[in-house]
Amino acid sequence: MAKSRYQAPRGTFDILPADARARAPVERAAAKVFNHAGYEPIVTPAFEDTELFARGVGHSTDIVRKEMFTFEDKSGRSLTLRPEGTAPICRAYVEHGMHKLAQPVKLGYLGPFFRHERPQAGRYRQFHQVGAEVIGTDSPLADAEAIMLLADMLAEVGVEGVELRLGSLGSPETRSAYLDELRAHLRAHEGELPKQVRERIDANPLRAFDADDEGTRVVMADAPKLLDRLDGADAEHFAEVRDLLDVADIAYEIDPTLVRGLDYYTRTIFSFVCERLGAQSEIGGGGRYDGLIEQLGGPPTPAVGWAAGVERTVLALDAEEEAPVLGPAAFIAVDQSGPSRRMVAQGLTREFRRAGFPAEMDLLERSLKGQLKHADRIGAHIVVILEADGGVQLRNMETGEQRPIDLERALDEISRNGN
Ligand code: HAM
Repeated sequence: MAKSRYQAPRGTFDILPADARARAPVERAAAKVFNHAGYEPIVTPAFEDTELFARGVGHSTDIVRKEMFTFEDKSGRSLTLRPEGTAPICRAYVEHGMHKLAQPVKLGYLGPFFRHERPQAGRYRQFHQVGAEVIGTDSPLADAEAIMLLADMLAEVGVEGVELRLGSLGSPETRSAYLDELRAHLRAHEGELPKQVRERIDANPLRAFDADDEGTRVVMADAPKLLDRLDGADAEHFAEVRDLLDVADIAYEIDPTLVRGLDYYTRTIFSFVCERLGAQSEIGGGGRYDGLIEQLGGPPTPAVGWAAGVERTVLALDAEEEAPVLGPAAFIAVDQSGPSRRMVAQGLTREFRRAGFPAEMDLLERSLKGQLKHADRIGAHIVVILEADGGVQLRNMETGEQRPIDLERALDEISRNGN
């Protein structure tokens, strides 16, 4: 490979045609499950006012503290490449008065996101998410539907070995009382905790559940669990979500230590993990965020959603074979070096395309032999050869069979023969 003077920035990657072919099934599966379940597409800008994420995702999160690509525009306004899609969609919901539409509003999206993380397998600085949001309902039915949708999308793509972890964060009040209790527990064991955990006791004590050092693990094993503190309505909501998943035959594991890296979650949170992904084992996750829209200036509006990483989904597939190149139905070749037959060939190629048949022709002015070789290389099914004397031959590339046909009727004949 020639060494290029310029390379894609660290943590980013090119999606080359073979990669694009490998991703296509994920994109198709997402489009299919969204379509069948009435999730309409939404596209928001790649950057937003920084304040949207600072408020929406939360000042104390790693995403806001360390991982945002933030820059000033020419007027000195602070903008940020979107690290996630939920806050922007809630911004759009409020901005466009979507609360006046039939509720809930169900939206699906796919696009690039940006986080300044340490790159490793499955973790990039520009990555892609497919996600869904159900806005305007606090029913456990919506939580269950969101989870089912992600499970169905992963099944449709053919990802195996995924496990669902489920938790609940309760209401902000329950959570805040619990966090005080957790802080007290951590302070009582401060001597056993490493510096980076001690420093987060005030701002984000929940992250201690994520720490992987032995000291913190021992301390966290005895820590109070939020799930044991859920009050009546929250506990009932969580029980209903579990019942709905049981009825739908969706296996899950209750994980009292489940934490997510975004502050807007309330009640249900979930995470789909796939062991074959290694360290970055979460393929997708989400939860309920009943306070976010109000926090962004909209009416009180409960909502739930998820996002899955496109790259991680493809990695989890671990496709052994490369996705095949689907060659054009027809290749139009010419047995003459002069320009006149090539013009006819270009006209015929266009006619094929307009009639709905993928068609290609030689753009390098090769010899006939070179054209046939090229047609074979790109996987053309048939070749129409415009001969020097005005005759036309139809060549089946699979069998090598060749026979004369009438140019006027070439298209008709090909479509009749199903080529
Ligand atoms: P998240 O868990 O931060 O949630 O990201 C969702 C998914 O995006 C992850 O499970 C992972 O597959 C993928 N992902 C995250 N960061 C990276 C990265 N650096 N490189 C590659 N893939 C990555 C959210 O973003 C929420 N907005 C999900 C949500 C929607 N919650 C409610 N609605």
